Amino acid sequence: TTSVKAYEYIVLGGGNAAGYAARQLVEKHAIAAHKLAVISAESVAPYERPALSKGYLTANPPARLPGFHTCVAAGGAPQTPDWYAKHGVDLLLSTEIVKADLASKRLTAKDGSQYAYGKLLLATGADALHLNELGMAGAELDGIYYLREIAEAEKLYEAMKANVNKHAVVVGGGYIGLECTAALVANGVRVTMVFPEPHVMARLFTPQIAAHYERIYAEKGVSFIKGTVVDSFADEHGSGRVRFIRLKSGAVLEADMVVVGIGAKPRTALFDKALAMEARGIKVDEHLRTSNPDVFGAGDVITFPLKMYGNRMTRVEHVGHARQSAMHAVDVMVGASTEPYDYLPFFYSKVFNLSWKFWGDTPPNAKTIVAGEMNPKLVAVWIDDSGHIVGTFIESGTEQEEAKLKELARTRPPADMERLEQAAAAKDPDG
Ligand code: FDA
Ligand code: NAD
Repeated sequence: TTSVKAYEYIVLGGGNAAGYAARQLVEKHAIAAHKLAVISAESVAPYERPALSKGYLTANPPARLPGFHTCVAAGGAPQTPDWYAKHGVDLLLSTEIVKADLASKRLTAKDGSQYAYGKLLLATGADALHLNELGMAGAELDGIYYLREIAEAEKLYEAMKANVNKHAVVVGGGYIGLECTAALVANGVRVTMVFPEPHVMARLFTPQIAAHYERIYAEKGVSFIKGTVVDSFADEHGSGRVRFIRLKSGAVLEADMVVVGIGAKPRTALFDKALAMEARGIKVDEHLRTSNPDVFGAGDVITFPLKMYGNRMTRVEHVGHARQSAMHAVDVMVGASTEPYDYLPFFYSKVFNLSWKFWGDTPPNAKTIVAGEMNPKLVAVWIDDSGHIVGTFIESGTEQEEAKLKELARTRPPADMERLEQAAAAKDPDG
């Protein structure tokens, strides 16, 4: 017979949400020893994942663990394995759960060990979408890099250092594409970016905002191939290493390494049949409860109602949401909160010496006004059909400017169009 370890609470996952959930249970709810297990397939304690495409690749000296374990971004000391031990939290690393039986409230790991829970917080996050899953020829060749977990960041770092003055192709024009390109360039690797849209970061940027960043990338020697995708990869003389990148447009590029960032897929497989799903995520209500009363969810894996926007169901792949939803779900799970989760969408990125932030919403027919393009500070607002400011963006804002823009996105005042258009015409960043 298999022995079963029983816990009052299990957090399934070892990413950003898990780290913040553990901290909330320990620091806010003073959970007793050995009532909580954090179960992670990763081999290291939860860390601030955003560091992998930033400080891990570019800082001097590069960011390394234990420096960026959670919850350093919230100002705390890094939660090393010692922190978990000291607080009586069982941190089960390199432990992939392969079966979840919600009726008997048991999880089974790959090695057969079993864990029973009273309440379960799902924080299984997302994984990078891989080109070989799409059946692409040559996608299994060496020299093609993805970036989701720390082991991949290490491989990418080493490849980058081995390819100084050589050439990389970056596939995808989103977050990974832009951040990894900046890291490669900063390390002396020449980059060509390939993506299907007409401009970078198509899911957020307007053409004008994108042009601003593309100009900066171009000045650093980056070239763009837009409006096409990769058709296949090939090696040279059977080396097993990627050398040629054939595009759907017919062009063939040569490169010494390839980085792929073509989106993420939520890790829901264990629960696809057992829990209600929506929009590729595990469906939760405004209290972050799944369709099973003892199971809660947080982070990239959940589809949740956005209270600010009439409870529109959405999935968010950003760290601010992972942290906040994890802490909120914990409060609900222990019976300390009956408040709904009220998230103001917040996205940010850092590349080169630049740092942009966005708050709020980008409705499909929003009017956008961009000001201050030349400073190089850039400010933009999104205005909805009813004439209210719903989204705000700033490059390299001061703390005060950022607080003001965040406030505008939260309160959604009517836009003073005349003033905004004047500011845009004057390209006045303070307008
Ligand atoms: P996350 O993916 O962090 O963690 C999921 C965990 O669950 C992993 O530890 C995984 O191993 C584990 N797991 C999954 N299934 C399991 C199973 N069956 N058994 C055991 N364990 C299992 N966002 C942002 O706002 N600003 C930024 O700058 C960045 N930068 C950034 C860079 C890079 C390189 C990436 C990959 C992502 C970002 N993000 C970001 C996104 C942000 O990191 C992301 O939204 C959060 O990490 C989501 O946190 P979760 O805990 O939900 O999932
Ligand atoms: P993304 O959704 O930001 O961008 C995907 C990009 O892939 C699209 O912009 C498109 O250009 C491209 N694309 C899609 N299909 C393609 C195809 N078949 N061939 C070529 N290009 C294709 O996803 P990502 O950049 O891969 O990021 C992965 C995850 O990591 C996301 O959840 C993202 O939010 C997260 N992340 C966030 C940040 C941040 O918030 N600063 C930074 C890094 C990663």
